[in-house]
Amino acid sequence: MEGWTVTVDRRITKKEKPNTEQLEFGRIFTDHMFIMDYMEPLGWHDARIVPYQQLTIDPSAMTFHYGQSVFEGMKAYHTDEGEIQLFRPEKNLERLNHSNDRLCIPQIDEEFVLNAIKQLVYLDKDWIPKADGTSLYIRPFIISTEPFIGVAPSHQYKLIVILSPVGSYYKEGINPVKIAVENHYVRAVKGGTGEAKTGGNYAASLKAQEKCTQNGFSQVLWLDGVEKKYIEEVGSMNVFFKINGEVVTPALNGSILEGITRNSVIQLLNHWNIPVTERKVSMEELYEAYVDGKLEEAFGSGTAAVLSPIGQLSWGDKDLFINNGKTGEVSKALYDTLTGIQYGRKTDPFNWVE
Ligand code: COI
Repeated sequence: MEGWTVTVDRRITKKEKPNTEQLEFGRIFTDHMFIMDYMEPLGWHDARIVPYQQLTIDPSAMTFHYGQSVFEGMKAYHTDEGEIQLFRPEKNLERLNHSNDRLCIPQIDEEFVLNAIKQLVYLDKDWIPKADGTSLYIRPFIISTEPFIGVAPSHQYKLIVILSPVGSYYKEGINPVKIAVENHYVRAVKGGTGEAKTGGNYAASLKAQEKCTQNGFSQVLWLDGVEKKYIEEVGSMNVFFKINGEVVTPALNGSILEGITRNSVIQLLNHWNIPVTERKVSMEELYEAYVDGKLEEAFGSGTAAVLSPIGQLSWGDKDLFINNGKTGEVSKALYDTLTGIQYGRKTDPFNWVE
């Protein structure tokens, strides 16, 4: 998209900003948003920043009917020095294009969209909260807008980026949560859309989430969709276990989302010379390790929560109490280091922030 520019239409009357000490996740949106349209044969065009506003979309737009859509989630942080930082944003745009490919959505120019996102964040920089643990969540998404209810890839799309000042994703914050192993519902199967960031995967997770919440748990642990034997993800996060000094995480197999926090955790563990392996992990193996006293830590990783320790895992009639329900040493070190880098309080040996 050489030579393309982003036009800017600024909001005249600014919206009221929230009390950043009591921020929930994802309920408040900033003054502006970014939009760009796709239509054949023009391709992506009309890149613009406009006041945050409702959309007018035809009820027959394909996105409403067959879910041809993708999204991303990333964050902007305020450093103590008053600078604005993004964490590995190019990885999100790379993943957006992987998701686009899986959902038959045209590729975007990653560099152009990243620059547009930076321009949007800078315009709404006063919305980046400064309270501890808060940030500005950036939600890019693409919807199919062609007015047609036949099942086929759309010929028209909108890419939109909205911004939301957020606090912790889970009310427990970095405190360990109670997880139920889900033995009936599955999130994704190999060959399906599990490794794409598309709304349908999250819609498919709601029933199990509803069931586990009713039973007093925070999230579910997802097993593979064929044998219901191997561990895949936890809630909307990737999952890690520390077993007898080694950290293990399910290997990417086509149904697991390739998390950017997951990748950062693996790189940090390697940097610290803590053994880390990506492989299949079964519930049987985990239970055996627990019985042998070798299951030392468990945690989920994702953009929204960063890191969420698991204190209890319920698997049918068995309960695994991990690290006496306390946050483990490795989980704490990872959380402190990742957030330290994100907020510019710790050195960034990997050049992750920009
Ligand atoms: C993440 O933490 O990476 C997520 O995708 C959570 C989001 C669906 C709210």
